[in-house]
Amino acid sequence: MNRRAFLTTSTAALAGSFFAPTSSHALDLTQAPLPYAPEALEPYIDAMTMGIHFGKHHAGYVTKLGDALKAANISQTDAQALVSDIKSLPDAAQTAIRNNGGGHVNHSWFWKWMAPAGSGPKGPEGKLGEAIQSTFTSIDDFKKVFGEAAGKRFGSGWAWLIVTKDGGLKVTSTPNQDNPLMKGIVDDADLGTPILGIDVWEHAYYLKYQNKRPDYVTAWWNVVNWAEVAKGYEAAKKA
Ligand SMILES: [Fe+2]
Repeated sequence: MNRRAFLTTSTAALAGSFFAPTSSHALDLTQAPLPYAPEALEPYIDAMTMGIHFGKHHAGYVTKLGDALKAANISQTDAQALVSDIKSLPDAAQTAIRNNGGGHVNHSWFWKWMAPAGSGPKGPEGKLGEAIQSTFTSIDDFKKVFGEAAGKRFGSGWAWLIVTKDGGLKVTSTPNQDNPLMKGIVDDADLGTPILGIDVWEHAYYLKYQNKRPDYVTAWWNVVNWAEVAKGYEAAKKA
């Protein structure tokens, strides 16, 4: 079976099945279209970076994830459930699924956590805004803590805002394509439902910002999709 047929079969197998999403939106093994044009996040994120990031990097993770699942004869079609329980997979398949499954899930979230500047709320509102203020003192203090996590991540990885098991908010960071759903890989204290995250791999910013990762993080706040983050927060609190 070629990859397209495999993915089609997997998607078909998903129809009608029930699974509990671990975030506000469950993900299958396919790459959804980018929710805006590649140039829509200019001038903060440039069109060429977005085009390569979505069309080459994310697409590559999706292809390699499909290949790894096929090689290991794994039938799981919920990408979030898959990366949540990597330690239960055959040893030989774990690394490829951790890297490429994580890559697929993280990027699928990341595109939704961004939106063209000015298209939605300028910051966290409602219950999310209140929770951020009570946890971090102020929105600016939260941005400082989050920005420090993004800046201190050595090499490639992500910084996250998660809803923890007890319903609290926490800023965390993971290397490579790991994420806060990954039981047995991420420290138990840092497990949770991610409601916002920033990609700090150089492929996310190098063309425009080169070595200046903090400038990328500062600019990125302009394109955060706070409506989507609030939706994720509400869903995580109800879960
Ligand atoms: Fe990336």
